[in-house]
Amino acid sequence: VSIRLRLALWYSALFTLILLIVALLSYAFHTRGHYDDIDRALITSASHAAAEAAMMSDAPHLVRGSGGLDVVLRLYDATGTLQETSDPARATPPTNPIAVLQSPAGPAFDPLAALVPPLAMQALGPGSGAFGLLSVGSQRWRTYVFPLQHGGQSVGYVEALIPLARLDRSIHAYQLMLLALGVNGVIAALVGSWFIARRALQPISEMIETAREIETTGSIAQRIPLPSRRDELGRLAETFNAMLVSLEEGFRAQQRFVSDASHELRAPLTAIQGNLELLRRQRAMPEAEREEALAEAEREAARLTRLVSDLLALARADAGVSLDHRPVDLDTVVLDAFGMARQLARGQTLNLDAFEPVQVHGDADRLKQLVLILLDNALKYTSANGHVTLELRRTETHALIIVCDTGVGIPTDALPHVFERFYRADPARSRDPGGTGLGLSIARWIVEQHSGTIVLQSQLGQGTTVRVRLPRSS
Ligand SMILES: Nc1ncnc2c1ncn2[C@@H]1O[C@H](COP(=O)(O)OP(=O)(O)OP(=O)(O)O)[C@@H](O)[C@H]1O
Ligand SMILES: [Mg+2]
Repeated sequence: VSIRLRLALWYSALFTLILLIVALLSYAFHTRGHYDDIDRALITSASHAAAEAAMMSDAPHLVRGSGGLDVVLRLYDATGTLQETSDPARATPPTNPIAVLQSPAGPAFDPLAALVPPLAMQALGPGSGAFGLLSVGSQRWRTYVFPLQHGGQSVGYVEALIPLARLDRSIHAYQLMLLALGVNGVIAALVGSWFIARRALQPISEMIETAREIETTGSIAQRIPLPSRRDELGRLAETFNAMLVSLEEGFRAQQRFVSDASHELRAPLTAIQGNLELLRRQRAMPEAEREEALAEAEREAARLTRLVSDLLALARADAGVSLDHRPVDLDTVVLDAFGMARQLARGQTLNLDAFEPVQVHGDADRLKQLVLILLDNALKYTSANGHVTLELRRTETHALIIVCDTGVGIPTDALPHVFERFYRADPARSRDPGGTGLGLSIARWIVEQHSGTIVLQSQLGQGTTVRVRLPRSS
């Protein structure tokens, strides 16, 4: 069952319940009030007539003109024989006052109306008389019999009688009206809540529609139209769109990565292919040229190998491969990398400055790779007469690796991008030593895997400083 139908049903059920309670209460109060009024009028009329009749105790009779509008008064003798009627012209059903007194009837209203107690009205007792209820055809009559006593002796009965037809009709009409109102109200509530639920759930349907379109067309450039209200559904739509944006970004980045990678792979492959072709076509090539062609092919192959291993590292990073987490003597690792970097130097002075032994948790090989990437950059972008210094420091909580060079520096506008994959700042400047622009992205990944931070500061023409902070293990 859809949420929409469930909402509509629940709402209508609640509405029906409230309607039922309200209708029932109003019906009961109204009905009971009217029938009680009649009973009260009967008691009043009968007891007045009885009081008057009692004054003529030897020969009691009715005083003319007593009784209310519709009320008929009748006088009986002690045996229950009718003596006198206040309105002889009217046709009234015969009654037996003694039988009424012996077995009094209940109230004239139906049990539903009896549900409410006579709240505002004082409780209505029959007094020393008794109520009766007669049915003549479809007509009902309410009667009240009051015994006349004289010196402890029964001398007769006074009866007040009233037809209930008019009130019965009006109450019946009231019942029908309540029923019609109730049924219509429930139908209106059902229809209304069905539409309200649809309106409320409209953004959800749109979201489902969009999600389905994305699924079938595979295009994640789509967005859900935001509802104008900033309610929960609006926020859901917003979140959904934000999710799509980040998915799309990831997707585009992946696409860019693949195309950049293929592009980078093509250059060395083309160079290798060219040199091999050259070697095959010109058999009679001077030895020196042959050597040169072979050396270039070898260099390119080496570059290819490095590139592929870099790509592999990044692919692992994307796949969420986590690194070793073992205690590592960072000083050993840094010293190792320092020794290897020495062989890369082309005349630059490479110094080890402050050097404090410190331990971190992590992957020794990756940490060495990190230091090498930084030293490689520093050497690569620093001319032969420049200086490169490496520092390892220990603070309260962190290990600090600082690589500082006096090289070409990085333009300010390029600085925010150096950690992006395949990004190379202005490769045209000076004689570019070549590279693929993956070094720093791998470096950042390694630092992040060790819960550290990497910050790069640079002054164009002055040099570059890279600071890596890694949390200490002890
Ligand atoms: N120490 C530095 N001095 C000057 N520029 C630097 C330095 N380190 C990085 N850069 C700039 O940042 C760019 C990105 O560096 P990254 O190490 O990611 O790539 P790369 O060195 O060009 O290639 P790769 O390291 O993959 O062979 C470099 O191309 C260079 O322009
Ligand atoms: Mg590099």
